[in-house]
Amino acid sequence: MKERAVFTTKFGALATTVGSAVGLGNIWRFPYEAGVHGGGAFLLCYMLFVFLIGVPVLCAEFAMGRGTRSNVFGAYSKLAPRQKWQFTGYIGIVASLLILSFYSVVAGWTVEYCISSAFGQLSFGDMAGGHGQFTSLTTGWRPILWTVIFLFCNTFILLGGVTKGIERASNILMPMLFLLLIAFCINSMTLPGFGEGVRFLFHPDFSKITPSVLLGALGQAFFSLSLGLGCMMTYASYFSDTNRLGRTAAVGAVLDSSVAVLSGIIIFPAVFSFGLSPQAGPTLVFEVLPYIFSQLPGGMVWSTLFFLLLFLASLTSTVSMSEISITFFCEEKRMSRRNATLLSSAISLCGGVLCALSFGPLSGFTIGGLTIFNLFDYLSSNICLPIGGMVCSFFVGWMIDKKFLRDQFTDYGRYRFVLLPLLTFSLKWICPAAIFLIFLNSIGLL
Ligand code: TRP
Repeated sequence: MKERAVFTTKFGALATTVGSAVGLGNIWRFPYEAGVHGGGAFLLCYMLFVFLIGVPVLCAEFAMGRGTRSNVFGAYSKLAPRQKWQFTGYIGIVASLLILSFYSVVAGWTVEYCISSAFGQLSFGDMAGGHGQFTSLTTGWRPILWTVIFLFCNTFILLGGVTKGIERASNILMPMLFLLLIAFCINSMTLPGFGEGVRFLFHPDFSKITPSVLLGALGQAFFSLSLGLGCMMTYASYFSDTNRLGRTAAVGAVLDSSVAVLSGIIIFPAVFSFGLSPQAGPTLVFEVLPYIFSQLPGGMVWSTLFFLLLFLASLTSTVSMSEISITFFCEEKRMSRRNATLLSSAISLCGGVLCALSFGPLSGFTIGGLTIFNLFDYLSSNICLPIGGMVCSFFVGWMIDKKFLRDQFTDYGRYRFVLLPLLTFSLKWICPAAIFLIFLNSIGLL
């Protein structure tokens, strides 16, 4: 078999991790979830989960990936050959394809917004009272076209191979996106609703912490860090032997959650300034952003640039999501990389079409009160990701030799990693137990 690729630089490994983590999850999903779940209370739970559960699980995925240098199935079966843990890999495959489906639809909206703003067609002035712009852009059959275009770009990058396509793109784009977000945050301070928006986001109202807020925040923490499906495991299998996993995980998590917070600081002041509702759901960010751009001098240019970067950030995330099923088809089913990529794209295309239609022609079709789009999102983010994370932390905490973790985090004793006991404790007890309790709580058993 061909030798596996390795990311060429340390910065490359961090940039690809951040490239996978930072995407629509931070800029689109975080504000919408925070808006629905009461702002400050949600942010608090989300932050706690990121650092208490997310970072340890991220470390566990990193160790499994780099230590075994294989895909999710391979990693579980190499570490516990006689047991059947690798079946959890199937959750990863199914959930990653579900996420890819609805994610491509939202990414498709960014393509549409980018192109419409570039041609001056994103009408800014006449939106008083509503969702006019958004509705006309995203309902009906047209979103399918944008979803297809997005998936086409995704497939194109994937066919270019791992190090060439992904690494090069992430190195440049992520820092640029970060700078642009900071600029918009500064602009946000000039809005009349700044105080109210910031209070909404940062002032936790503890009475708002309900089971659904807890589950939502847990799902969001996993979603945003690309955890639970073996995505980071797959990426870590491309890390070099000298990469310091603990540091990469911590820096990655800090950068990722700061992007989410920045995005909240951009969105909520605008929501209150323009008299919108924070509870709008998945469409929130796309309704709010055009208002912000309409207030800026040169709004058209800012808007085009922003949606372009958001589109590219989504691409670096979907590329990582696709890697989960692609490496599986390649390494376990012995498919060529090309066929594996095409198969994974074809499946997400079918799912994507269904999700795209669920804002228009299929909006009346619901299962358990959720449209197809929301159902795919709920099932994958709030159920599959935490289960995947629970299994992974339990597995690393209890089932494998402690020496494995130590070797991975100290580069076989070459340097010290003082937080190792804390990490082991967290993987053994805190992560599996907390996730389990949140599940019990959300189905009303606690
Ligand atoms: N973290 C990405 C975002 O915030 C989405 C993502 C990429 C993801 N790969 C993943 C989510 C794997 C879950 C699992 O946009």
